[in-house]
Amino acid sequence: MTTPATVRVEASRGYDVQIGPGLLASLGQTVRGLLPKAARTVLVYDSALPVALVRDVRNSLSLAGLAVEQSLLQADESLKTLDALAPVLNTIATHKLERHEPVIALGGGIVGDLAGFAAAIYRRGVPVIQCPTTLLSMVDASVGGKTGANLLLAGGDLKKNLLGAFHQPHAVLADTSTLHTLPDRELRGGLAECLKHGLLSAAFGDPDLVAWTLAALPRVLARDAATLVELVARNVAVKARVVAGDEREEAPSDQGGRALLNLGHTFGHAIETLPNLSPDADPARAPLTHGEAVALGLHAAAVCSAELGIAPGEFPSHVKAALSAAGLPSAVLGLPSADHVLQLMSHDKKVAAGRLRLVLPKGDGTCLVRDDPPRHAVLRAIEAIRRG
Ligand SMILES: NC(=O)c1ccc[n+]([C@@H]2O[C@H](COP(=O)([O-])OP(=O)(O)OC[C@H]3O[C@@H](n4cnc5c(N)ncnc54)[C@H](O)[C@@H]3O)[C@@H](O)[C@H]2O)c1
Repeated sequence: MTTPATVRVEASRGYDVQIGPGLLASLGQTVRGLLPKAARTVLVYDSALPVALVRDVRNSLSLAGLAVEQSLLQADESLKTLDALAPVLNTIATHKLERHEPVIALGGGIVGDLAGFAAAIYRRGVPVIQCPTTLLSMVDASVGGKTGANLLLAGGDLKKNLLGAFHQPHAVLADTSTLHTLPDRELRGGLAECLKHGLLSAAFGDPDLVAWTLAALPRVLARDAATLVELVARNVAVKARVVAGDEREEAPSDQGGRALLNLGHTFGHAIETLPNLSPDADPARAPLTHGEAVALGLHAAAVCSAELGIAPGEFPSHVKAALSAAGLPSAVLGLPSADHVLQLMSHDKKVAAGRLRLVLPKGDGTCLVRDDPPRHAVLRAIEAIRRG
Protein backbone atom coordinates (compact mmCIF):
# COMPACT_ATOMS: atom_id res chain seq x y z
CA MET A 1 0.00 0.00 0.00
CA THR A 2 1.48 3.35 -1.05
CA THR A 3 0.75 6.20 1.31
CA PRO A 4 -0.83 9.16 -0.49
CA ALA A 5 0.37 12.71 0.16
CA THR A 6 -1.40 16.04 0.39
CA VAL A 7 0.21 19.42 -0.26
CA ARG A 8 -1.66 22.61 0.60
CA VAL A 9 -1.37 25.57 -1.78
CA GLU A 10 -1.86 28.82 0.13
CA ALA A 11 -3.19 31.08 -2.61
CA SER A 12 -5.96 33.71 -2.55
CA ARG A 13 -8.22 30.69 -2.12
CA GLY A 14 -6.21 27.82 -0.70
CA TYR A 15 -6.64 24.26 -1.93
CA ASP A 16 -5.19 20.80 -1.56
CA VAL A 17 -3.17 18.86 -4.07
CA GLN A 18 -3.79 15.18 -3.37
CA ILE A 19 -1.20 12.78 -4.70
CA GLY A 20 -1.43 9.01 -4.80
CA PRO A 21 -2.34 5.96 -6.86
CA GLY A 22 -6.04 5.31 -7.50
CA LEU A 23 -7.31 8.72 -6.32
CA LEU A 24 -9.57 9.20 -9.33
CA ALA A 25 -11.79 6.36 -8.15
CA SER A 26 -13.07 8.76 -5.46
CA LEU A 27 -13.22 11.88 -7.66
CA GLY A 28 -17.04 12.00 -7.42
CA GLN A 29 -16.94 12.03 -3.60
CA THR A 30 -14.21 14.68 -3.63
CA VAL A 31 -16.31 16.93 -5.87
CA ARG A 32 -19.36 16.35 -3.65
CA GLY A 33 -17.36 17.31 -0.56
CA LEU A 34 -16.05 20.49 -2.17
CA LEU A 35 -19.17 21.59 -4.04
CA PRO A 36 -22.16 19.99 -2.29
CA LYS A 37 -24.75 21.90 -4.35
CA ALA A 38 -23.36 20.91 -7.76
CA ALA A 39 -25.77 18.92 -9.92
CA ARG A 40 -23.71 18.95 -13.14
CA THR A 41 -20.17 18.92 -14.34
CA VAL A 42 -18.34 19.12 -17.66
CA LEU A 43 -15.50 16.65 -18.00
CA VAL A 44 -12.87 17.98 -20.41
CA TYR A 45 -10.46 15.21 -21.30
CA ASP A 46 -7.61 14.25 -23.58
CA SER A 47 -8.88 12.14 -26.48
CA ALA A 48 -5.73 9.96 -26.27
CA LEU A 49 -6.35 8.76 -22.71
CA PRO A 50 -7.17 5.08 -22.16
CA VAL A 51 -10.91 4.49 -22.58
CA ALA A 52 -11.12 2.64 -19.24
CA LEU A 53 -9.69 5.63 -17.35
CA VAL A 54 -12.25 8.04 -18.80
CA ARG A 55 -15.07 5.56 -18.17
CA ASP A 56 -14.04 5.08 -14.51
CA VAL A 57 -13.85 8.83 -13.96
CA ARG A 58 -17.29 9.31 -15.51
CA ASN A 59 -18.72 6.51 -13.35
CA SER A 60 -17.27 8.00 -10.19
CA LEU A 61 -18.88 11.36 -10.99
CA SER A 62 -22.23 9.78 -11.91
CA LEU A 63 -22.27 7.67 -8.74
CA ALA A 64 -21.88 10.88 -6.76
CA GLY A 65 -25.08 12.12 -8.41
CA LEU A 66 -23.53 14.48 -10.93
CA ALA A 67 -24.88 14.78 -14.49
CA VAL A 68 -21.77 14.59 -16.66
CA GLU A 69 -21.33 16.20 -20.06
CA GLN A 70 -18.02 15.69 -21.81
CA SER A 71 -15.76 17.61 -24.13
CA LEU A 72 -12.76 16.06 -25.87
CA LEU A 73 -9.51 17.81 -26.66
CA GLN A 74 -6.55 16.76 -28.76
CA ALA A 75 -3.32 17.31 -26.80
CA ASP A 76 -1.34 19.04 -29.54
CA GLU A 77 0.54 22.26 -28.82
CA SER A 78 -0.27 23.65 -32.27
CA LEU A 79 -3.99 23.16 -31.50
CA LYS A 80 -3.90 24.75 -28.03
CA THR A 81 -5.67 27.81 -29.42
CA LEU A 82 -8.97 29.66 -29.33
CA ASP A 83 -10.27 27.22 -31.95
CA ALA A 84 -10.01 24.42 -29.39
CA LEU A 85 -11.50 26.56 -26.64
CA ALA A 86 -14.74 27.38 -28.49
CA PRO A 87 -16.25 23.85 -28.44
CA VAL A 88 -15.37 23.46 -24.74
CA LEU A 89 -17.16 26.72 -23.92
CA ASN A 90 -20.06 25.62 -26.08
CA THR A 91 -20.44 22.37 -24.16
CA ILE A 92 -20.26 24.21 -20.83
CA ALA A 93 -22.92 26.69 -21.96
CA THR A 94 -25.19 24.03 -23.49
CA HIS A 95 -24.95 21.98 -20.30
CA LYS A 96 -25.91 25.18 -18.40
CA LEU A 97 -23.17 25.01 -15.80
CA GLU A 98 -23.93 27.26 -12.82
CA ARG A 99 -21.34 29.26 -10.87
CA HIS A 100 -21.04 26.49 -8.25
CA GLU A 101 -20.64 23.64 -10.78
CA PRO A 102 -17.21 22.53 -11.86
CA VAL A 103 -15.28 21.89 -15.01
CA ILE A 104 -13.08 18.84 -14.54
CA ALA A 105 -9.80 18.76 -16.47
CA LEU A 106 -8.51 15.24 -17.09
CA GLY A 107 -5.26 15.11 -19.05
CA GLY A 108 -1.86 16.72 -19.36
CA GLY A 109 -0.91 20.38 -19.33
CA ILE A 110 -2.64 21.17 -22.62
CA VAL A 111 -6.03 19.97 -21.37
CA GLY A 112 -5.45 21.53 -17.94
CA ASP A 113 -4.52 24.92 -19.41
CA LEU A 114 -7.43 25.01 -21.88
CA ALA A 115 -10.09 23.59 -19.54
CA GLY A 116 -8.88 25.89 -16.76
CA PHE A 117 -9.04 28.87 -19.11
CA ALA A 118 -12.59 27.95 -20.18
CA ALA A 119 -13.57 27.70 -16.49
CA ALA A 120 -11.92 31.07 -15.81
CA ILE A 121 -13.81 32.97 -18.49
CA TYR A 122 -17.22 31.24 -18.52
CA ARG A 123 -19.54 33.46 -16.45
CA ARG A 124 -16.35 35.14 -15.17
CA GLY A 125 -15.36 31.96 -13.43
CA VAL A 126 -16.73 28.56 -12.52
CA PRO A 127 -14.74 26.09 -10.39
CA VAL A 128 -12.16 23.85 -12.00
CA ILE A 129 -10.82 20.60 -10.58
CA GLN A 130 -7.51 19.64 -12.11
CA CYS A 131 -6.87 15.91 -12.61
CA PRO A 132 -3.41 15.80 -14.22
CA THR A 133 -2.38 12.62 -16.04
CA THR A 134 1.20 13.48 -17.07
CA LEU A 135 4.18 13.92 -14.76
CA LEU A 136 4.66 17.42 -16.15
CA SER A 137 1.14 18.48 -15.32
CA MET A 138 1.27 16.84 -11.87
CA VAL A 139 4.45 18.61 -10.79
CA ASP A 140 3.81 21.89 -12.55
CA ALA A 141 0.93 22.81 -14.88
CA SER A 142 -2.03 21.76 -12.69
CA VAL A 143 -0.78 23.71 -9.66
CA GLY A 144 -0.66 27.47 -9.23
CA GLY A 145 -3.66 28.67 -11.21
CA LYS A 146 -2.11 29.71 -14.51
CA THR A 147 -4.49 28.81 -17.34
CA GLY A 148 -4.35 29.80 -20.97
CA ALA A 149 -4.02 29.20 -24.67
CA ASN A 150 -1.60 29.95 -27.47
CA LEU A 151 -2.48 32.72 -29.90
CA LEU A 152 -2.21 32.04 -33.61
CA LEU A 153 -1.36 35.35 -35.24
CA ALA A 154 -2.61 36.31 -38.69
CA GLY A 155 0.83 35.63 -40.24
CA GLY A 156 0.77 32.06 -38.91
CA ASP A 157 3.05 32.64 -35.88
CA LEU A 158 1.99 30.71 -32.78
CA LYS A 159 2.58 32.70 -29.58
CA LYS A 160 2.89 30.43 -26.55
CA ASN A 161 0.43 31.08 -23.72
CA LEU A 162 -0.12 34.68 -24.79
CA LEU A 163 -3.75 34.39 -23.67
CA GLY A 164 -4.52 33.44 -20.13
CA ALA A 165 -6.02 34.04 -16.75
CA PHE A 166 -5.12 33.24 -13.18
CA HIS A 167 -7.76 30.82 -11.97
CA GLN A 168 -6.84 28.66 -9.01
CA PRO A 169 -8.40 25.18 -9.02
CA HIS A 170 -10.71 24.06 -6.21
CA ALA A 171 -8.57 20.95 -5.89
CA VAL A 172 -5.91 18.98 -7.74
CA LEU A 173 -6.07 15.18 -7.80
CA ALA A 174 -2.80 13.73 -9.06
CA ASP A 175 -3.56 10.05 -9.49
CA THR A 176 -0.08 8.64 -9.99
CA SER A 177 -1.40 5.33 -11.36
CA THR A 178 -2.37 7.20 -14.55
CA LEU A 179 1.38 7.53 -15.25
CA HIS A 180 1.58 3.81 -16.08
CA THR A 181 0.26 4.45 -19.60
CA LEU A 182 2.29 7.62 -20.15
CA PRO A 183 4.94 7.13 -22.87
CA ASP A 184 8.56 7.22 -21.58
CA ARG A 185 9.29 10.31 -23.65
CA GLU A 186 6.51 12.22 -21.85
CA LEU A 187 7.61 10.93 -18.44
CA ARG A 188 11.12 12.22 -19.15
CA GLY A 189 9.63 15.54 -20.26
CA GLY A 190 8.09 15.89 -16.80
CA LEU A 191 11.53 15.33 -15.30
CA ALA A 192 12.71 18.53 -17.01
CA GLU A 193 10.31 20.53 -14.83
CA CYS A 194 11.46 18.52 -11.78
CA LEU A 195 15.10 19.43 -12.52
CA LYS A 196 14.01 23.03 -13.01
CA HIS A 197 12.47 22.98 -9.53
CA GLY A 198 15.66 21.41 -8.18
CA LEU A 199 17.76 24.27 -9.56
CA LEU A 200 15.79 26.78 -7.48
CA SER A 201 14.49 24.71 -4.56
CA ALA A 202 17.21 25.53 -1.99
CA ALA A 203 15.40 28.80 -1.34
CA PHE A 204 12.06 26.99 -1.05
CA GLY A 205 12.68 24.31 1.54
CA ASP A 206 14.19 21.44 -0.46
CA PRO A 207 17.93 21.90 -1.06
CA ASP A 208 18.48 18.22 -1.95
CA LEU A 209 15.85 17.92 -4.67
CA VAL A 210 18.24 17.51 -7.64
CA ALA A 211 20.42 14.95 -5.84
CA TRP A 212 17.37 12.99 -4.69
CA THR A 213 15.80 13.11 -8.18
CA LEU A 214 18.96 11.83 -9.86
CA ALA A 215 19.28 9.00 -7.32
CA ALA A 216 15.60 8.12 -7.74
CA LEU A 217 15.67 8.10 -11.58
CA PRO A 218 15.70 4.30 -12.05
CA ARG A 219 12.71 3.96 -9.71
CA VAL A 220 10.90 6.86 -11.39
CA LEU A 221 11.40 5.35 -14.83
CA ALA A 222 10.24 1.97 -13.50
CA ARG A 223 7.17 3.88 -12.20
CA ASP A 224 7.64 2.70 -8.65
CA ALA A 225 4.48 3.80 -6.83
CA ALA A 226 6.03 5.25 -3.66
CA THR A 227 8.79 7.03 -5.60
CA LEU A 228 6.27 8.69 -7.93
CA VAL A 229 4.27 9.97 -4.94
CA GLU A 230 7.42 11.39 -3.32
CA LEU A 231 8.61 12.93 -6.61
CA VAL A 232 5.29 14.66 -7.25
CA ALA A 233 4.79 15.73 -3.61
CA ARG A 234 8.27 17.28 -3.28
CA ASN A 235 7.93 19.18 -6.55
CA VAL A 236 4.43 20.39 -5.78
CA ALA A 237 5.63 21.54 -2.34
CA VAL A 238 8.37 23.65 -3.99
CA LYS A 239 5.95 25.12 -6.52
CA ALA A 240 3.36 25.79 -3.78
CA ARG A 241 5.92 27.75 -1.72
CA VAL A 242 6.94 29.85 -4.72
CA VAL A 243 3.31 30.54 -5.68
CA ALA A 244 2.31 31.40 -2.08
CA GLY A 245 4.93 34.17 -2.07
CA ASP A 246 3.90 35.80 -5.34
CA GLU A 247 0.65 34.33 -6.66
CA ARG A 248 0.25 36.66 -9.65
CA GLU A 249 3.92 36.98 -10.60
CA GLU A 250 4.14 40.61 -9.56
CA ALA A 251 7.36 40.61 -7.51
CA PRO A 252 10.08 42.96 -8.77
CA SER A 253 13.02 41.30 -10.53
CA ASP A 254 15.36 41.73 -7.57
CA GLN A 255 13.03 39.61 -5.42
CA GLY A 256 12.59 36.83 -7.96
CA GLY A 257 9.15 35.65 -6.91
CA ARG A 258 7.03 33.47 -9.18
CA ALA A 259 9.06 34.55 -12.23
CA LEU A 260 11.76 32.16 -10.96
CA LEU A 261 9.57 29.30 -12.20
CA ASN A 262 10.20 30.57 -15.73
CA LEU A 263 13.75 29.20 -15.48
CA GLY A 264 14.58 27.70 -18.89
CA HIS A 265 11.28 28.86 -20.36
CA THR A 266 12.33 32.01 -22.24
CA PHE A 267 14.76 29.91 -24.29
CA GLY A 268 12.34 26.96 -24.21
CA HIS A 269 9.25 28.80 -25.44
CA ALA A 270 11.22 30.34 -28.30
CA ILE A 271 12.20 26.95 -29.69
CA GLU A 272 9.17 24.89 -28.65
CA THR A 273 7.03 26.09 -31.50
CA LEU A 274 9.70 25.52 -34.20
CA PRO A 275 8.07 22.54 -35.90
CA ASN A 276 11.16 20.78 -37.27
CA LEU A 277 13.24 20.31 -34.13
CA SER A 278 13.62 16.81 -32.75
CA PRO A 279 15.26 15.67 -29.47
CA ASP A 280 17.59 13.38 -31.44
CA ALA A 281 18.56 13.23 -35.10
CA ASP A 282 15.26 11.53 -35.99
CA PRO A 283 12.92 13.93 -37.85
CA ALA A 284 10.02 11.57 -37.13
CA ARG A 285 10.23 12.66 -33.48
CA ALA A 286 9.73 16.37 -34.26
CA PRO A 287 8.48 18.63 -32.79
CA LEU A 288 10.03 18.86 -29.33
CA THR A 289 7.76 18.27 -26.36
CA HIS A 290 7.34 21.10 -23.85
CA GLY A 291 9.60 19.24 -21.41
CA GLU A 292 12.34 18.76 -24.00
CA ALA A 293 12.25 22.46 -24.89
CA VAL A 294 12.52 23.29 -21.17
CA ALA A 295 15.50 20.90 -20.87
CA LEU A 296 17.32 22.78 -23.64
CA GLY A 297 16.33 26.03 -21.95
CA LEU A 298 17.83 24.86 -18.64
CA HIS A 299 21.13 24.08 -20.32
CA ALA A 300 21.11 27.43 -22.12
CA ALA A 301 20.33 29.29 -18.87
CA ALA A 302 23.19 27.47 -17.11
CA VAL A 303 25.64 28.44 -19.89
CA CYS A 304 24.44 32.05 -19.76
CA SER A 305 24.93 32.08 -15.96
CA ALA A 306 28.45 30.71 -16.21
CA GLU A 307 29.29 33.16 -18.99
CA LEU A 308 28.26 36.04 -16.70
CA GLY A 309 30.08 34.65 -13.66
CA ILE A 310 26.75 34.06 -11.87
CA ALA A 311 27.42 30.30 -11.68
CA PRO A 312 30.79 28.48 -11.57
CA GLY A 313 32.35 27.57 -14.93
CA GLU A 314 31.73 23.84 -14.46
CA PHE A 315 28.01 24.31 -13.65
CA PRO A 316 26.70 23.88 -17.24
CA SER A 317 28.37 20.47 -17.49
CA HIS A 318 26.58 19.39 -14.27
CA VAL A 319 23.25 20.48 -15.73
CA LYS A 320 24.06 18.70 -18.98
CA ALA A 321 24.91 15.50 -17.10
CA ALA A 322 21.66 15.68 -15.09
CA LEU A 323 19.61 16.17 -18.28
CA SER A 324 21.40 13.32 -19.97
CA ALA A 325 20.80 11.01 -16.96
CA ALA A 326 17.09 11.80 -17.27
CA GLY A 327 17.21 11.06 -21.01
CA LEU A 328 16.64 14.69 -21.96
CA PRO A 329 18.40 16.66 -24.69
CA SER A 330 20.87 19.45 -23.91
CA ALA A 331 21.49 20.31 -27.58
CA VAL A 332 19.46 20.04 -30.75
CA LEU A 333 20.04 19.75 -34.49
CA GLY A 334 18.58 22.26 -36.92
CA LEU A 335 18.41 25.28 -34.62
CA PRO A 336 18.01 28.48 -36.65
CA SER A 337 20.64 31.22 -36.33
CA ALA A 338 21.30 32.57 -32.84
CA ASP A 339 19.97 35.96 -33.97
CA HIS A 340 16.73 34.32 -35.08
CA VAL A 341 16.34 32.51 -31.75
CA LEU A 342 17.08 35.73 -29.88
CA GLN A 343 14.41 37.44 -31.95
CA LEU A 344 11.90 34.71 -31.03
CA MET A 345 12.90 35.09 -27.36
CA SER A 346 12.29 38.81 -27.55
CA HIS A 347 8.69 38.10 -28.52
CA ASP A 348 8.16 35.94 -25.47
CA LYS A 349 5.55 37.28 -23.09
CA LYS A 350 8.13 37.29 -20.31
CA VAL A 351 9.81 40.27 -21.93
CA ALA A 352 9.34 43.31 -19.66
CA ALA A 353 9.02 46.75 -21.28
CA GLY A 354 10.82 45.51 -24.38
CA ARG A 355 13.70 44.13 -22.32
CA LEU A 356 14.63 40.48 -22.25
CA ARG A 357 14.21 38.95 -18.80
CA LEU A 358 16.04 35.74 -17.96
CA VAL A 359 16.05 33.54 -14.89
CA LEU A 360 19.63 32.49 -14.23
CA PRO A 361 20.70 29.66 -11.92
CA LYS A 362 23.56 30.34 -9.51
CA GLY A 363 24.51 26.70 -9.26
CA ASP A 364 23.76 26.47 -5.52
CA GLY A 365 20.05 25.63 -5.77
CA THR A 366 19.03 29.28 -6.10
CA CYS A 367 18.36 31.56 -9.07
CA LEU A 368 18.11 35.25 -9.84
CA VAL A 369 16.10 37.22 -12.37
CA ARG A 370 18.20 39.31 -14.74
CA ASP A 371 16.68 42.03 -16.92
CA ASP A 372 18.52 42.90 -20.10
CA PRO A 373 21.26 40.25 -19.94
CA PRO A 374 24.29 41.05 -22.14
CA ARG A 375 23.71 39.95 -25.71
CA HIS A 376 27.02 38.10 -25.99
CA ALA A 377 26.10 35.78 -23.08
CA VAL A 378 22.66 35.00 -24.54
CA LEU A 379 24.13 34.28 -27.97
CA ARG A 380 26.77 32.04 -26.37
CA ALA A 381 23.99 30.16 -24.54
CA ILE A 382 22.05 29.63 -27.76
CA GLU A 383 25.17 28.31 -29.49
CA ALA A 384 25.69 25.86 -26.60
CA ILE A 385 22.37 24.13 -27.34
CA ARG A 386 23.10 23.83 -31.06
CA ARG A 387 24.13 20.33 -32.07
CA GLY A 388 26.26 19.41 -35.04
N1 LIG B 1 -0.22 26.33 -16.44
C1 LIG B 1 1.03 26.16 -16.08
O1 LIG B 1 1.49 26.63 -15.03
C2 LIG B 1 1.92 25.32 -16.97
C3 LIG B 1 3.16 24.89 -16.49
C4 LIG B 1 3.93 24.05 -17.30
C5 LIG B 1 3.47 23.68 -18.56
N2 LIG B 1 2.27 24.16 -19.00
C6 LIG B 1 1.76 23.76 -20.32
O2 LIG B 1 1.55 22.36 -20.29
C7 LIG B 1 1.67 21.86 -21.63
C8 LIG B 1 2.53 20.62 -21.61
O3 LIG B 1 1.92 19.67 -20.79
P1 LIG B 1 2.18 18.10 -20.95
O4 LIG B 1 3.61 17.84 -21.07
O5 LIG B 1 1.38 17.43 -19.90
O6 LIG B 1 1.62 17.84 -22.41
P2 LIG B 1 0.29 17.21 -23.06
O7 LIG B 1 -0.92 17.69 -22.39
O8 LIG B 1 0.44 17.46 -24.51
O9 LIG B 1 0.47 15.65 -22.81
C9 LIG B 1 1.57 14.99 -23.38
C10 LIG B 1 1.16 13.75 -24.17
O10 LIG B 1 0.81 12.72 -23.27
C11 LIG B 1 -0.47 12.16 -23.62
N3 LIG B 1 -1.05 11.71 -22.35
C12 LIG B 1 -1.47 12.48 -21.32
N4 LIG B 1 -1.75 11.72 -20.25
C13 LIG B 1 -1.53 10.44 -20.62
C14 LIG B 1 -1.63 9.20 -19.95
N5 LIG B 1 -1.93 9.11 -18.66
N6 LIG B 1 -1.35 8.07 -20.65
C15 LIG B 1 -0.98 8.14 -21.95
N7 LIG B 1 -0.83 9.28 -22.63
C16 LIG B 1 -1.10 10.43 -21.96
C17 LIG B 1 -1.17 13.27 -24.34
O11 LIG B 1 -2.16 12.78 -25.21
C18 LIG B 1 -0.03 13.93 -25.10
O12 LIG B 1 0.24 13.22 -26.28
C19 LIG B 1 2.23 22.97 -22.48
O13 LIG B 1 1.21 23.53 -23.27
C20 LIG B 1 2.71 23.99 -21.44
O14 LIG B 1 2.67 25.30 -21.94
C21 LIG B 1 1.49 24.95 -18.23
